[in-house]
Amino acid sequence: MATAGKVIRCKAAVAWGPKKPLVLEKIEVAPPQVNEVRIKIVATSVCHTDLYHLFECEHNNGFPIVLGHEGAGIVESIGPGVTEFQPGDKVIPLPIPQCGECHFCKSPKTNQCVKGWTAGSSIMLALPDSRFTCKGKKVLQFAGTSTFSEYTVVRTMAVAKIDPAAPLDKVCLLGCGVCTGFGAAVNTAKVEPGSTCAVFGLGAVGLAAVMGCKSAGAKRIIAVDVNPDKFEKAKVFGATDFVNPKDHNKPISQVLAEMTNGGVDYSLECVGNVAVMRSALESCVQGWGVSVIVGWTDSSDFAARPMQLIAGRTWKGSLFGGFRSKDGVPEMVKAYMEKKVKLDEFITHTMTLDQVNDAIDLMKHGKCVRTVLSVCSQ
Ligand SMILES: NC(=O)c1ccc[n+]([C@@H]2O[C@H](COP(=O)([O-])OP(=O)(O)OC[C@H]3O[C@@H](n4cnc5c(N)ncnc54)[C@H](O)[C@@H]3O)[C@@H](O)[C@H]2O)c1
Ligand SMILES: [Zn+2]
Ligand SMILES: [Zn+2]
Repeated sequence: MATAGKVIRCKAAVAWGPKKPLVLEKIEVAPPQVNEVRIKIVATSVCHTDLYHLFECEHNNGFPIVLGHEGAGIVESIGPGVTEFQPGDKVIPLPIPQCGECHFCKSPKTNQCVKGWTAGSSIMLALPDSRFTCKGKKVLQFAGTSTFSEYTVVRTMAVAKIDPAAPLDKVCLLGCGVCTGFGAAVNTAKVEPGSTCAVFGLGAVGLAAVMGCKSAGAKRIIAVDVNPDKFEKAKVFGATDFVNPKDHNKPISQVLAEMTNGGVDYSLECVGNVAVMRSALESCVQGWGVSVIVGWTDSSDFAARPMQLIAGRTWKGSLFGGFRSKDGVPEMVKAYMEKKVKLDEFITHTMTLDQVNDAIDLMKHGKCVRTVLSVCSQ
């Protein structure tokens, strides 16, 4: 590879500050260091967590940064000590790593890894760990991935090698949203056959949760969203009932309780709103109802009556759908190739990296499910 060992100058969308449009810049991407690979990003989609960082969380020290964490690409070069990857391998960079050695990775009880950013509760790579510079300034990497760039450097513990036949402009969705929603239903809620489920929020994460409930054998899947344009898609993934909270003048938990003889067996919050998290919990049936928080927020506390839990409900959270990232993502790619999970149906728009601000606007205004941006040609 002509570029191996050299700094690559390439295009990336840089977020210089909160609530500002991203700027297409030439950035420098340093060669990979020990146990890192440099990846040419072929396709990336936009997830709401990118918007959360840009618009919603109040980080002052989170910029400049290259966002994007739902991508797929090809290994361009490998750092010293890397034997697991070769240039040319098709890969998905992973927002959470799987080092395989820590006490979390060795426990069957969690998919988290002590080397992940959740340990430090920051979703950015520390500045010394970022391989990006722009105009003489270090630029942060987001979720250890930063896929809104033609090239990015990722730790091998956060890279999944995938089937070389997989279409990168589709399987990029498995880098975050689809694994997250699907796994939240299957791995975290452990939805049982014949059960009744409710999914709050019908973005890609919620629709993937609907798909997960269906694949686990749920009999009834109630799709809840304040944007009724989302219901048609939800039907495609297996939803059986549709509720717009704006159509009712009583609490949504009461509406669902009346529809289901006291509440649903499983509810999944895929919005990132603490009031909706409470509603989702209260929509579960007493005795055994399980509610899973999937939506992302770290800026406010939530509240609930203890009696809700005392009465036998369980409240859980799910990171990356409970999947161990390096093991789970190639399996989900395989499931897609075998037509056991859908991906194409999530993609409502395709654009190029230059149009990333348009893609962000679409999501902000609820006009898309997933927009896939093509970044580099293969
Ligand atoms: N836990 C994780 O590992 C993880 C991973 C990825 C994304 N997320 C989070 O999941 C959430 C969903 O992500 P997405 O990309 O699907 O977002 P999205 O913006 O595409 O979808 C959110 C949906 O929620 C709906 N909504 C908004 N307010 C609502 C309300 N009060 N009641 C019902 N529905 C409402 C919107 O209309 C929209 O359809 C975000 O918070 C994101 O940050 C979490
Ligand atoms: Zn680990
Ligand atoms: Zn995401």
